[in-house]
Amino acid sequence: MEHNGALDSLLQEERVFRPLPQLVIEANVNPQEYDAAVRNGNDDYLSYWEDAARELDWFRKWNQVLDDSNPPFYRWFPGAKCNIVYNALDRHITTANKNKLALIWEGETGDTQKFTYYELYRAVNRFANALRSLGIKKGDRVVIYMSPLPETIIAMLAVAKIGAVHCMVFAGFSAKALRERINDAQAKLVITADGFYRNGRPINLKKVIDEAVEGCDSVDTVVVVHRANVQVEMNEPRDLWYEALVRQESPECPTEVMDANDMLFLLYSSGTTGKPKGIVHGHGGYMVGVHRSLNWVFDIKPTDIFCCTADVGWITGHSYVVYGPLMAGTTTVLYEGHPLYPQADRMWDVIAKYGVTIFYTAPTLIRMLMRFGTQYPKMHDLSTLRLLGSVGEPINPEAWVWFYKNIGRSECPIIDTWWQTETGSFIICPFPISLLKPGSVFKPLPGIEADVVDEQGNPVPPGKGGQLILKRPWPSMLLGLYKDPERYKEAYWSQVPGAYLAGDVARKDEDGYIWIQGRSDDVLNIAGHRIGTAELESALVAHRAVAEAAVIGVPDSIKGEVAKAFVILNEDYNDPEDPDELLKQLKDHIRRELGPVAVVKSIEIREKLPKTRSGKIMRRILKAEEMGEDVGDTSTLEND
Ligand code: WTA
Repeated sequence: MEHNGALDSLLQEERVFRPLPQLVIEANVNPQEYDAAVRNGNDDYLSYWEDAARELDWFRKWNQVLDDSNPPFYRWFPGAKCNIVYNALDRHITTANKNKLALIWEGETGDTQKFTYYELYRAVNRFANALRSLGIKKGDRVVIYMSPLPETIIAMLAVAKIGAVHCMVFAGFSAKALRERINDAQAKLVITADGFYRNGRPINLKKVIDEAVEGCDSVDTVVVVHRANVQVEMNEPRDLWYEALVRQESPECPTEVMDANDMLFLLYSSGTTGKPKGIVHGHGGYMVGVHRSLNWVFDIKPTDIFCCTADVGWITGHSYVVYGPLMAGTTTVLYEGHPLYPQADRMWDVIAKYGVTIFYTAPTLIRMLMRFGTQYPKMHDLSTLRLLGSVGEPINPEAWVWFYKNIGRSECPIIDTWWQTETGSFIICPFPISLLKPGSVFKPLPGIEADVVDEQGNPVPPGKGGQLILKRPWPSMLLGLYKDPERYKEAYWSQVPGAYLAGDVARKDEDGYIWIQGRSDDVLNIAGHRIGTAELESALVAHRAVAEAAVIGVPDSIKGEVAKAFVILNEDYNDPEDPDELLKQLKDHIRRELGPVAVVKSIEIREKLPKTRSGKIMRRILKAEEMGEDVGDTSTLEND
């Protein structure tokens, strides 16, 4: 079985870590309750999820828990009326949460903004009213291309509050990638900032927007938040300053009543073709999955301060910076900038300053900070921490143990959560009470049934690698791919009949613990970000010097994986005078095409690429050569 990850040390890990007795006693879900939930989730998963749904507020109850009459287009809670923003904000205003901190934001430059639930609610209402007055209605798509700012969260919530659909685009994407998404979504309105701070420098975002929306017929309005004082050109009447727009608006605004399966957001993610997939989530099922998973898995208590380092432009930010923490009534901490600015203790400083109790991050960040040794964490009081979390890529045991010892004082469990943009919320992960094995994501959550299977869909024996599948629908599952029902069926539901194919290679051990090895498709996981090899290849061949390109993932000690490209040059470029200069140009070109999110470590010029007889490039062979492994079966290779 092919896999892109190279964390082979995962295969030998045998240590087990136990939670402290106090933590088990105080847990929201104790070991007996956990066992009961697993049992209930297996015996009658619909009533298990119905119980989870009852913890939230609905305008009208469902007719049925799950409509499975048209698989794989499963619909949860049909007939129900709700709005996730009602649960994230409105309902707190009449409780003791009203004056509690909802959001703590820290800018890279050290400035801080704090919002109580009441203040956030009113800010969202103002912007929601402004959006309505700009003609944005239920179902309209709004693209948000922003750095982490309070207004980024306000914008998401305001869009959802009035029933429109938000489509976040990570600020590391290029103008071209942004334009493709705006066009596909047919967005009427785009929200951005003038710029943001990263590594001590202001980065101009508005410039990217100007380039991206040129020629986008659907876009009527661009709303610009003032953040970094960078020089921007306001193109009237299209461009409006956020601050001027909300000033006159009322802080009260009715929340749109939505059907449970109305669209909440659209989020693009890389697939196996050059065209990103528009992953669609709705209000009802998504809120149930996110709410239950956060409260149970991260054991949310009234005094918690929750800090998730993900960018709001990715699914982790949607579910566990914004919606999950706010629905739970906890305090979410958002940091704007680079984790190494001004030095390698910035994250530890944030934890100490705000008394963060739960710190949820990615292996890439841990590996990056590990390099600087323990002197930085030692400079800060990290004693408020009680739980740690990891997401986005397999965590190697070395990073796990470093994080556990030096950040968690060998007392805080590490909750390694496996899930995807498509799954909406955690799917496979431990609870604070679980016995942990570093590098394993533990077992499926109650109510979820997962397995590891071979090509024929049969379960593989313990220790053997196979495809990870989910055997039943779950509430926070994607509703589908935007405007592409066929691709949805084909990509996820066609390989193993009746099951959802995750696209990851995994194995189970003798104890039923699951170990994720990496993607099984042509998608790379660079620093926890999904990038399709096909996207990189089409960016490369768009350069006039390149005739053909093949991209593979190669291991990287910090980013987990980075891209390596092999190119065949066009005849006119066959003998470049300065090959280094050409390679540099190609790297710059990829950055322009896709944005800084696509990290290509090296590009190698070749005269030939290994192909099948039907002309498909065999990346598997390039990868094996690169890794110094046996190239395996090459019987389908074309003849020389
Ligand atoms: C990978 C991010 C190992 C996996 C939430 C998955 C992980 C892809 C883990 C989804 C983990 C995510 N251990 N691998 N704990 N979490 N992945 O859509 O390959 O950005 O398919 O969602 O990240 O990435 P996405």
